[in-house]
Amino acid sequence: MWLFKLFLRAISCLTLEVGVWSAQALEMSVGKIPYLEAVNGSTVVLPCTYFSCIGIQNLYFNWQFNDNGTMQKVCESVIPSEGVVPKVSIFRDRVEFVGKNHENNISILLWNITFEDGGLYTCFGRNPKEKDKNHSAIFHLIVVDELRVVDNSLTIMIASAVGGAIALLMGFMLLKNFTLFVLSKMEEKNKECLVSSSGIDNTENGLSGSKAESKATPKKK
Ligand SMILES: *[C@@H]1O[C@H](CO)[C@@H](O)[C@H](O)[C@H]1NC(C)=O
Ligand SMILES: *[C@@H]1O[C@H](CO)[C@@H](O)[C@H](O)[C@H]1NC(C)=O
Ligand SMILES: *[C@@H]1O[C@H](CO)[C@@H](O)[C@H](O)[C@H]1NC(C)=O
Ligand SMILES: *[C@@H]1O[C@H](CO)[C@@H](O)[C@H](O)[C@H]1NC(C)=O
Ligand SMILES: *[C@@H]1O[C@H](CO)[C@@H](O)[C@H](O)[C@H]1NC(C)=O
Repeated sequence: MWLFKLFLRAISCLTLEVGVWSAQALEMSVGKIPYLEAVNGSTVVLPCTYFSCIGIQNLYFNWQFNDNGTMQKVCESVIPSEGVVPKVSIFRDRVEFVGKNHENNISILLWNITFEDGGLYTCFGRNPKEKDKNHSAIFHLIVVDELRVVDNSLTIMIASAVGGAIALLMGFMLLKNFTLFVLSKMEEKNKECLVSSSGIDNTENGLSGSKAESKATPKKK
């Protein structure tokens, strides 16, 4: 997996060498799953890493929060070179730079999130080595209430509803069988009556006739 990643990167870098300067050299990534659902009050990591084929020098990066359309800077810094832990300016409460540029990691930590913290976060990078082109990746933080458990109980409710429906159906089938049983008992009585009242030929006709009736009755229900 790791080797495959390296291989892909090598290929993308190769394309850069073959292609023109305008090819994307810097890559910002918020990971394969660019969103997170977290309960209010919890502490979350907003992941971001960068990658550059040609290496970085004084890489400028920041995190921005899209607050109703206006971009608010969460933090920013300049990374002199790879591996150096940069000094990061933080403009928002409860934010900590935890990536420490370790393996190009510029993730941040959000302490004790509130519902206002939910939204889109942009991890932005610009590498002077590649003509100051802008690169970014967006991470979506979804803050949910603890009452999210309601969803679970909803599933339970649905499950029990389905179970109930099945039970009802089984009950209905039992009832149907019982009805059929009663009907057959009645049939037997009818048969007795028929036997006593008329001949054997009539009995057979009458029996098949009432059988068809009893089969048709539940279908009507
Ligand atoms: C999350 O929000 C709910 C409703 O606003 C509140 O009752 C609860 O205390 C909050 N939880 C935390 C851990 O802040
Ligand atoms: C954000 O958007 C909501 C709904 O679109 C609006 O009611 C609210 O006033 C906006 N807040 C700000 C600070 O613009
Ligand atoms: C987060 O909440 C806990 C418990 O309420 C508190 O002790 C801690 O100081 C808070 N952290 C920040 C960074 O606000
Ligand atoms: C980046 O650092 C954070 C905090 O230490 C960690 O949770 C995350 O897994 C790291 N990401 C990568 C890709 O190493
Ligand atoms: C890059 O982003 C900056 C804001 O950080 C903006 O002023 C500039 O116009 C952008 N450049 C390009 C080429 O998009």
